[in-house]
Parts: sequence; C-alpha cells; structure tokens
Amino acid sequence: MDNLLKLVEKFARTNLLVVGDLMLDRFIRGEVERISPEAPVPVVRVLSESTSLGGAANVVHNVRSLGGRVTACGIVGNDEGGNCVVAALRKTGASTAGVCFDGAVATIQKIRIIASPRHQQIVRLDRESGQPASAATRKKLRDFIRSALGRYDGIIISDYGKGVVHEELLDVVADRVVRSKVICVIDPKKENYRHYRFPTLITPNKSEASEAAAIAIDDAASLRAAGAKLVRRWRAQAVLITRGADGMSLFRPRQAVKHFPTEPRDVFEVTGAGDTVVAVCALALASGGSYEEAALLANIAAGFVGDEVGTVAVPGEKLKRSIADKI
Ligand SMILES: Nc1ncnc2c1ncn2[C@@H]1O[C@H](COP(=O)(O)OP(=O)(O)OP(=O)(O)O)[C@@H](O)[C@H]1O
Ligand SMILES: [Mg+2]
Repeated sequence: MDNLLKLVEKFARTNLLVVGDLMLDRFIRGEVERISPEAPVPVVRVLSESTSLGGAANVVHNVRSLGGRVTACGIVGNDEGGNCVVAALRKTGASTAGVCFDGAVATIQKIRIIASPRHQQIVRLDRESGQPASAATRKKLRDFIRSALGRYDGIIISDYGKGVVHEELLDVVADRVVRSKVICVIDPKKENYRHYRFPTLITPNKSEASEAAAIAIDDAASLRAAGAKLVRRWRAQAVLITRGADGMSLFRPRQAVKHFPTEPRDVFEVTGAGDTVVAVCALALASGGSYEEAALLANIAAGFVGDEVGTVAVPGEKLKRSIADKI
C-alpha cells in the first residue's frame, strides 16, 4: 500500500498523449409535471443544464484529475459542440495540440434528459454524423502522432469505434511503441479488433473479450482461455479483462492469470469506469509501476465512478486517501 501511495505521487511527473473519439455529454435535468397534451410523453420543466467530457475526452479529464500532464488528440466538428469540448479540455489543464477540427463531421454529443426526483433518464439523444472524418484530417492526426509521440511517456488509445482510431493510425503507433520505451494502453472496440498490435496493456471488458476471442466467457476456464488467446492475438505484453463488480483479471505471456477482486458496489449506473481504468493504468505504468500495481490502483479508482451520476474524473487526492485508509 505504501508503494501504491508513492506511485500515485509520481503521476504528476508523467506526460501522456490520449488519442481517440472525443465526446461531449450533456445533461438536461428537470421535473416531470404532467403528460403532454400533444403526445403520450412526459413534459419536463428544465431546471438545469450541464456538460461534461465524454469518451476519450473523459480519459483526458481523468488523467488530469489524477495529476498527470496530458495532450488530447482527436477530431471534433466545426460546431458549437467542438468549441465546447476544446474549452472544457483546456479548463482541465490539458493541451489540445492534437485536436483537429473537421467541417465534414459533427462533434459527437450524447444528450441525456433526466427527471427528478429519482434521476430517471427519460431519453438520450445522440448527435454524430456517422461519416468518417476526411482523409486529410485523418492524415493530419497520424502526422501529429508520428512527430509528437517521442515527447510523451505513454499513449492511451481510447477507441469508441467512431472512426478516429483506424488501421493506419494503429500502425503508426505500433511502429513507434516497439522501437521505444513509450508505453501504449488501449481501450478496444470491435471495429478495430483486427488492427491492434503490440500494446503494453489492452483493457477489454468481459463482453469485448468474449467477442474478440470468440469464446463465450462463462466460467474460470473460459475466462483463462479467452485471456490467453487475446495475449496472442494482439501480441500484447498484458491483457486486463475488466469484469464490472467482479473486478479484473490480468493475463501476460507465459504467466498464470492473476485475478483482482474488488469491493462490489450496488450502483445505479456506471459510465466511464473503463475510462478511469485506462487513465490509471497508463499513469501507473508510465510512472514505473508494475502491471499488478496498475491493476490494484485501477480497481480502487474505477470503484469510485459509480458513486456519482454521469461521467466522473476521479481526483488523485481521493485515490490517495483511500489507499492511506487501507494501510
Ligand atoms: N458495480 C461495481 N462495483 C465495483 N467496481 C465496479 C463496478 N462496476 C465497475 N467497477 C470497476 O470498474 C472497472 C471497469 O468496469 P467494467 O468492466 O464494467 O468496464 P466497462 O464495461 O468498460 O465500463 P464502461 O464502458 O461503463 O466505461 C471494473 O473492473 C471495476 O474495477
Ligand atoms: Mg469500456
């Protein structure tokens, strides 16, 4: 535990690049007063509106709140949402040097309408173009990564399958990672299972692991088989399968699986626990921590995410306090 505390203190000295699908979460909160006379739907009187960073932008936010230095790299539209994402990223203290504006796409926004008093989500509106960014923008992104990656201790690929992460980009990253000490942590999505190579650590959740390994995970043996298969498939130094309230399991080449149970929490909703996992793991590995230490810290930090509604950036102080309490 003492070592974990020292490791968290080193987070402030690390500099990470986060590449992925930047998103904006909008929350509109209000009260349901009656059923609409126009259609059988509730009428919500709006009491407050707020935004928070989502997707890869939530990973950036988590790295910052845990004390690390970080640069965001991704694509936003030439729209109000894009300006909002960039402003919010800068407000966290992150650099937005790698963010490209592309007029051909809409900034990805998830708008949730939530009614009090029970925080019930009434509807979610997704705004995204569904079009990939232009070839020129995608190239600009790859060029940025190629020239900038050497200046960072590590890279996080936060893939939400929305098109920023693509085969050629992953090739650029893999080539760099195998030739340097830069660590590479990937949060994978189906669209790119075929293209991930040589990650230092990759963190599928249980259903992604099942899907990518083509093995139904329903007991300890199938979990082991899937983990081992994914280490080979992605030529990964480590695969960390996150298992919700069951914690996580770490797989490494030629080593026995290690399970990291967690204190299960009864939570209303967990969004972004996976974002916290990659942020903590990358900070821990880039600070010289072991895979085991990374998993222990990630479990503690991700456990906090369910404490609040919506995406959450876990503060470094909260993580330190929780470790100190366990000593
Ligand atoms: N109910 C829970 N109680 C305690 N810890 C949890 C719970 N749910 C998630 N966690 C923590 O969060 C980690 C990641 O959760 P999960 O496996 O659900 O990832 P995920 O599906 O990628 O999440 P998301 O997509 O919502 O970000 C778990 O390994 C665990 O540490
Ligand atoms: Mg996830």
